[in-house]
Amino acid sequence: MRIDILTVFPELLISPFNHSIIKRAKERGLLEIYFHNIRDFSKDKHHKVDDYAFSGGAGMIMCIEPIDLAISKLKEEREYDEIIFVTPDGETYNQKTANHLSTMRNLILLCGHYKDIDQRVRDHLITKEISIGDYVLSGGELAAAIITDSIVRLIPGVISNETSALTDSFQDGLLAPPVYTRPAEYKGWKVPDILLSGNTKEIEKWKMEKSFKKTKKLRPDLLKGNKN
Ligand code: 6GU
Repeated sequence: MRIDILTVFPELLISPFNHSIIKRAKERGLLEIYFHNIRDFSKDKHHKVDDYAFSGGAGMIMCIEPIDLAISKLKEEREYDEIIFVTPDGETYNQKTANHLSTMRNLILLCGHYKDIDQRVRDHLITKEISIGDYVLSGGELAAAIITDSIVRLIPGVISNETSALTDSFQDGLLAPPVYTRPAEYKGWKVPDILLSGNTKEIEKWKMEKSFKKTKKLRPDLLKGNKN
C-alpha cells in the first residue's frame, strides 16, 4: 500500500511513522508513506497557502490552488482509490472503515489546518471526508497518523501473528476480554483461576462471557445492532 499525506506541517508526522508496527511494515516493503508539504505548491512568493473567507468571519481558509496542484501531480503518477480529507465534520471513523481502507492500494490523506478549507476542494478534489471523533484538533496531522496506524496494522503480513489483529476490540463488534501474564499472583492480586486451569474450552467460554459483559457495561451501543 502507498499513502501520500498532504500537510503544511510534515514534521508533525515523522515520529509516529518511524517506530513499531508502521516502521516494520515499511521495512518489509508492505507500506510506502510520503509526506508532501502543501506550501511547496504555493505560487505565492511567501509560500502562502491560506487567505480570508469571502463570507468574512474569523479564521483563515486554506486555498484551493496549492492543494489542487499537489493532488494533480500525484494523480498524474498513479491512480488513487480514495482522496481523503481528514476533518472534524467528516463521517466518523471506525473499524469498519479501517478494514475497508486497508484493502486499498493508493491513498491520499489531506490534512486541514487553520479554520477550514475552500469548499471547492471538498466538492471537486476529495472522495471521502473522515473525522476521528466529536472533538476538535488543531490540525488533521494527528488524525491522519491515527487513521494510518489503524489501517496499516490490518495489511496482511504486517502483524506477524495475523490472528492478533483479528482479535482486536471492535473486530467482531465486541470489546476484547481482559488478558493477564506472569506472575499469576502479584501483591496478592490474582489471575482468575480458570486461566490457569488449562481447560481451553472453558477458557474460550470465559473470554466470550467477559467480552460480552465488558461491552455491555462500557459500550452497550455496540450490542444494539449498531455495529461499527
Ligand atoms: Cl480528522 N481533524 C481535526 N482537525 N480535528 C478532528 C478530526 C480531524 N477528527 C476529530 N477532530
